[in-house]
Amino acid sequence: MTKKVVVTRQIKDEHLNQLKEKFEVFMWDSAGEPLPREQFLEEIKDADAALTMLSETVDAEMFETAKNLKVVANLAVGYDNIDLETAKENDVTITNTPEVLTETTAELAFTLMLTSARRVIKANRELEAGDWTGWSPYHMAGTDVFGKTIGVFGMGSIGAAFARRLKGFDCKIIYHNRSESKYAADLNAELVSFDELLEQSDFVLCAAPLTDETKYKFDKSAFGKMKSEAHFINIGRGAHVVEADLKEAVETGEIAAAALDVFDGEPISKDHPFIGMDNMTLLPHIGSASVATRDNMVQLCVDNIMNVLEGKAPLTQVK
Ligand code: DGY
Repeated sequence: MTKKVVVTRQIKDEHLNQLKEKFEVFMWDSAGEPLPREQFLEEIKDADAALTMLSETVDAEMFETAKNLKVVANLAVGYDNIDLETAKENDVTITNTPEVLTETTAELAFTLMLTSARRVIKANRELEAGDWTGWSPYHMAGTDVFGKTIGVFGMGSIGAAFARRLKGFDCKIIYHNRSESKYAADLNAELVSFDELLEQSDFVLCAAPLTDETKYKFDKSAFGKMKSEAHFINIGRGAHVVEADLKEAVETGEIAAAALDVFDGEPISKDHPFIGMDNMTLLPHIGSASVATRDNMVQLCVDNIMNVLEGKAPLTQVK
């Protein structure tokens, strides 16, 4: 019997056709709207594989429904949308897309840092609103990145690619991980405690995976330990942060600014409390969104599905 693959968002023909040559494929034909949950559960019932996005909750209910399922290829390096324990119990291989998105995501982190430091969004808004009254000495004056202390929470491959970009900025790099990062020596980066990271950094980047340990790590107490000139940048997951605490920290000047690509509950609407706040740079989760990288991510998912359904080892299995 032909095996079935469920693809939960529109992908390009060049990727889709590889799957179609060998399998029956259901693809949700929208690039923007997520596949409704009910339909996902219906389609997954007789599926052997699924190519999912981080917007799908791959949980016990789904595994209970999907009796034939052998592999879920998640189009992201993060996999906090997947219940790994239940996947294991059900003998379903889970794969993600590490490495292919590392440089692109690091570039976005760097963009956020510079944008926040130099008040780029605010300056642009002022100009576009016709409110620019002319040059003056401290008009839209921001802060420098060069020579500063940069703290990376989660010195994995993305954190390291971000830190590598600081070469030439004459910065001091510190980081916090559970243990020493294999990238640290090359970067001349110093392992510090979480509190030291908060206390010493001028820019704190959150690039860690979301786990029980890192969930809501950035709360009132954490922001309270940061310098009042510090900027907080998040390219990890929204749930690393207690958003109400971050709002308060920025509003009261406990920290200088925040630059966020991720939110606790996405997408956010224009009523979200962060919208319209001064000193907040907000992006709609586009960390890995370059065309080339998204192509590579989709191809890696396709390759993982093909391998597992053809009895070979997956390329990037989540352990
Ligand atoms: C990831 O890969 O986990 C990103 O957040 C999606 O681009």
